[in-house]
Amino acid sequence: MVDANKGKILLSVTGFNPKKWHGLLSPEREVVLEPAGETDPSITHAVVWYHPAGQLAKLPNLKAIFSIGAGVDHIMTDPDLPDVPIVRVVAENLTQHMVEYVVWRVLDHHRQASHYRKRQGESVWQGIEQRAAPDVTVGIMGMGTLGGAVAKALTAIGFKVNGWSRSQKTFEGVKTYSGQGELDSFLGKTDILVVLLPLTPQTRGIINYDLLSKLRKEHGGPVLINAGRGKLQSDTDILRALGDGTLREASLDVFEQEPLPASSPLWKHPKVFITPHAAAESDPNHLAPLMLAQMDKIERGETPDNIVDRSAGY
Ligand code: NDP
Ligand code: OXD
Repeated sequence: MVDANKGKILLSVTGFNPKKWHGLLSPEREVVLEPAGETDPSITHAVVWYHPAGQLAKLPNLKAIFSIGAGVDHIMTDPDLPDVPIVRVVAENLTQHMVEYVVWRVLDHHRQASHYRKRQGESVWQGIEQRAAPDVTVGIMGMGTLGGAVAKALTAIGFKVNGWSRSQKTFEGVKTYSGQGELDSFLGKTDILVVLLPLTPQTRGIINYDLLSKLRKEHGGPVLINAGRGKLQSDTDILRALGDGTLREASLDVFEQEPLPASSPLWKHPKVFITPHAAAESDPNHLAPLMLAQMDKIERGETPDNIVDRSAGY
């Protein structure tokens, strides 16, 4: 039942139907899709995905902004953000999905599934030399909530795992690198590159031809898996790297432009595996209750979990 003492939620989303989110948030709090007037004083919390720039700054009683995703680049592009906590998604369900996606893609490339798909299509019984996981190094760019969980799963399978992040980190069984100064050394040891970075001014365009050229070139060439953000990469540079053998194969979940235009040569490229930004979707069944609990926490005067550090490169 809606508690009249609890503040209202503004659910401001672009690109998908918010009906499910509305249904799951509204039993406890009143939820509106538009403020009642630009300066609606009844709104205390905003749940957003690509909200209109400037919309939130006008709400005088806003206490917090909740991102519908783990990434907050869709919020940070608003030049007029109010100075209230931005809370991002950290949830077991989402992390589990990302771990599954990356393990799936790493094993598919590692076990050379494209070779077998092709041979099956030709009814040809032909094996191929296969290395074991301990002979392969997976390098993960972005060792946060998702990168850390992925590293643990890949280590358990037996891969050598290296991680690169902004600050130095420690993970059991993982060799870690940090900062621009250690990037080339990290890349030079990487056979399968997994990208789980956030999109920030520092990371925009980082996955370019120059970077891909620095990956280890043994055993048929390196592989790229990007499930971070599309604007981390240059689609054109990936196509060039696949074309001249700098890259062996790629799995891409995210693209410079989404939805990926039908005219993109990536769609039909024989060395590319595409998913439509579906590696780890934000499931409202799991996330709405977490958000409601965080809103209650804020209204009790407590600090919510998973506040975005705005000074951390955004
Ligand atoms: P976290 O904030 O927990 O982790 C981010 C990691 O990236 C940290 O290790 C951080 O390093 C590192 N990093 C940030 N900036 C830099 C930089 N300039 N140089 C080097 N390392 C950097 O985020 P999550 O793990 O929760 O999520 C990562 C991203 O995954 C999200 O931002 C989102 O874009 C994407 N995502 C994609 C999904 C999909 O379905 N495709 C679903 C969910 C998320 P440090 O800790 O040292 O700052
Ligand atoms: C996210 C996403 O950031 O779905 O959670 O991409």
